Amino acid sequence: MKRQRLHLKAPDNWVNDPNGFIYYKGYYHLFYQYFPYGPRWGTMHWGHAVSRDLVNWEHKGLALYPTVREDQNGCFSGSAIVEDGKLYLVYTGVRYEVVNPEDPHTCLNDQFESAQLMIVSEDGIHFDNEKGKKVIIPPLTDPEIGDRTHTRDPKIWRGSDAWYLVLGSTMEEKYGETLFYRSTDLLNWTYVNKAWKGPEYGWMWECPDYFETEGGKVLLLSAMGFLKNNEKEKNQSICFPVEFDEASCRLQIPDAYQFLDYGLDLYAPQTTLDEEGRRVMIAWVRMPKVTEDGWIGMFCTPRVVEVKNGHICFKMHPNIKSAYSRDISGTEEAPEDGYMAVFDLEEGAGADIGGFRISRVNGRVKVDRTAVYPSFEGAHLVSETPVIAGTAHLEVLVDQHLIEIYINDGEYVISNAVYGAGKQITTEGVDMVRLYG
Ligand code: FRU
Repeated sequence: MKRQRLHLKAPDNWVNDPNGFIYYKGYYHLFYQYFPYGPRWGTMHWGHAVSRDLVNWEHKGLALYPTVREDQNGCFSGSAIVEDGKLYLVYTGVRYEVVNPEDPHTCLNDQFESAQLMIVSEDGIHFDNEKGKKVIIPPLTDPEIGDRTHTRDPKIWRGSDAWYLVLGSTMEEKYGETLFYRSTDLLNWTYVNKAWKGPEYGWMWECPDYFETEGGKVLLLSAMGFLKNNEKEKNQSICFPVEFDEASCRLQIPDAYQFLDYGLDLYAPQTTLDEEGRRVMIAWVRMPKVTEDGWIGMFCTPRVVEVKNGHICFKMHPNIKSAYSRDISGTEEAPEDGYMAVFDLEEGAGADIGGFRISRVNGRVKVDRTAVYPSFEGAHLVSETPVIAGTAHLEVLVDQHLIEIYINDGEYVISNAVYGAGKQITTEGVDMVRLYG
């Protein structure tokens, strides 16, 4: 099967969210939302890729596909855990009540219901789609808890005394909420508590992820309708340092949030622990247009999540950094699948990577992809970080379809999908650029 380096891309057709991200039996497994019949969203299957090092990926084909009443119209997002040497996947199954008469792969006016399912694999490669699926949380019937239609994306983890999972949901399509469940046997799940913020934080919360790091506890959310500005993607992934009490599943979310990535292209992040116990995040990079090779959708490079004085940092994973450690003297020596440029960006300075502009304006790192992005209504072409004090040290990963800028060792990251950006880099007001292939 096809191998890929740096950014995992759709093997063909369409991908969206990363799912079931986990280190198991010597391999990182990354499953993903996949539509196998065309380069657009439709009946969801789970694609599957594996990697030894988070750098080189190998596609493994389909893992999950609709086979039971509860997932007959799609296997939506979910996560993985390992117990007794087996790989457990939990995910959302959807059943359409009214299929779109024009398109069997979509439903009409959100008339569907969602259940949470589990499937267990002995080796992480084979999944018994015919007989191996179990419904663990049927469609919700109590609107006080959550929505029958929009409740999805279970993220599972082992707590100190039991298993936990969090689901994204909505209160009457007015504001997003997270629902917490507990289990002692992985099969029977009890609803324990919920958390929400209000309508200004979006009408539905997708793909919640809660975890603890040395520096603090973190909540990641993908909030639908978060941005009210029509020029940008309204659905955005945000994160918060939080407080969480396991016994009561009480989650306290502050008002102040950070964007997951200031390029506003990343969505539906998911984290896991790597081989060394680091918390690693990967996310879907949304793309507006099918590439020349017939695929659409990819993943950002895995990022190490750390909390420092209440600020959530997303650092370049050390395996990515060491994969790009060969000095090169010019971009013509860069490998096909990308290179890394490292330089400091002071106020007023700038760089151009094949038409993609980076500059430092009023303390912020600003990017402009106008020259290398398709123009369409609502396209967001320019984005920027919050104000950064002092020098901004940039590590830029350049791939033909994605430019990721890690600033000050992950204080902020700003990443943009691009189309047809050249490889060459020119700078103004920058002292020295180091290149690695
Ligand atoms: C987020 C999402 C999830 C859902 C999946 C369906 O992008 O909408 O909430 O499970 O994609 O493909």
